Amino acid sequence: MLSVQENERLTQVGPGTPMGELLRRYWYPIAPAAELDENPTKEVRILGEDLVLYKDRSGDYGLVGRYCAHRRVNLAYGIPEEHGLRCMYHGWLYDEAGQCTEQPFEETVRPQSRFKDKIKLPGYPVQAQSGLLFAYLGPEPAPYLPKWGPLVWGNTIKEISITEIPCNWLQCMENSLDPIHVEWLHRYYTSYVWMRQGKIADTQPPKIRHRKIGFDVFDHGIIKRRVLDGYTEDDDDWKIGHPVLFPHILYVQAGGVFSTLQHRVPIDDEHTLHVTYYAYESAPGTEAPAQDSVPYRYANLYKEDGTFEVDFSLDQDKMVWASQGPIAERNHEALGDSDTGIILLRKLLNEQMRIVEDGGDPINVFRDEEAAQSMQVPVERIGNGWDKLKEVRYIPLEQGETPALEEIMQVLSTWGDRSKVLER
Ligand code: FES
Ligand SMILES: [Fe+2]
Repeated sequence: MLSVQENERLTQVGPGTPMGELLRRYWYPIAPAAELDENPTKEVRILGEDLVLYKDRSGDYGLVGRYCAHRRVNLAYGIPEEHGLRCMYHGWLYDEAGQCTEQPFEETVRPQSRFKDKIKLPGYPVQAQSGLLFAYLGPEPAPYLPKWGPLVWGNTIKEISITEIPCNWLQCMENSLDPIHVEWLHRYYTSYVWMRQGKIADTQPPKIRHRKIGFDVFDHGIIKRRVLDGYTEDDDDWKIGHPVLFPHILYVQAGGVFSTLQHRVPIDDEHTLHVTYYAYESAPGTEAPAQDSVPYRYANLYKEDGTFEVDFSLDQDKMVWASQGPIAERNHEALGDSDTGIILLRKLLNEQMRIVEDGGDPINVFRDEEAAQSMQVPVERIGNGWDKLKEVRYIPLEQGETPALEEIMQVLSTWGDRSKVLER
């Protein structure tokens, strides 16, 4: 159990808060690149700051304060020019650093005044990578953007799925340090949903139970390990485990042939943007179809009747995160033996906040360009019961239809039965 103050320290993400300052040392995906090709301006809220993301006519991206410095209109309605974003109201122009570079009427009547030099909105760097646009809101110099394996692997089909969750980002991350929920939320609760839907007669207790869980801090975050019924410490689940990339990404393999980077982007204290990046691998010796751009979709949190989507595992995760309320009342919780990973995560976050308060760089910040280029971290390929499946099949994790379904089915079919996967 935490005190109210300890909970606030862990969950407040705005500028000047200890966690807000720690979180500002990392890059976050804020939109799919393909979305800006359809509409070149987009309202973005991240780390409690209201911003507008735009793509100008020369193809450069900017992320600047949302409201025009003149009379505070919303620049999401602004006009991208060859360089920068022009306010639609009186034509002031801003560059990607948020600096005002033109004031048409002021320059006409008083060309020598250079009023524009005094006008600056917040402006933050944006980088396009692998179909996502990443932003950095921290102090300069910005670290290098780490290119985690699935982002840069060739011979894969990629897809992006996004959901806004009405709760603090830490609830999502604590779930990733909590292996036991898999057997209850994703197995037993699923059987309850199926029973309610009339698909099965009764609930089914989880067939595979956890026997042991373990966690290790490493250079890039925390490795999560488990031993399930029927497996040993020699299996990938324990020997390799899978990583939580500090502070906001769960990297998980499913079935040995597709990987997800699940980014939990803090919008503000009470909202999180969940950005799932999928990479489906084509079997060795086969070729994945080319993708011009990475397709994206928005996965619903709620059904039409206002209840949560709960058919797939990530939907179920989103339901439990949101069901804890906007900020979980950790001052009323009762942690048990399943929560050792959560306690470790909070300890690590507190240590890293102190490092930032003392002027240092926290873990998993990249100052070496080479190291950030293609970051391969250990991740289990076979485990969690997936190896018991007979064939390689498409396993949706989230509600809604992927726009890349045809290509995904094509690369999955290159594996034939599971023997090729198990051989790897
Ligand atoms: S409000 Fe933007 S230029 Fe006047
Ligand atoms: Fe889960």
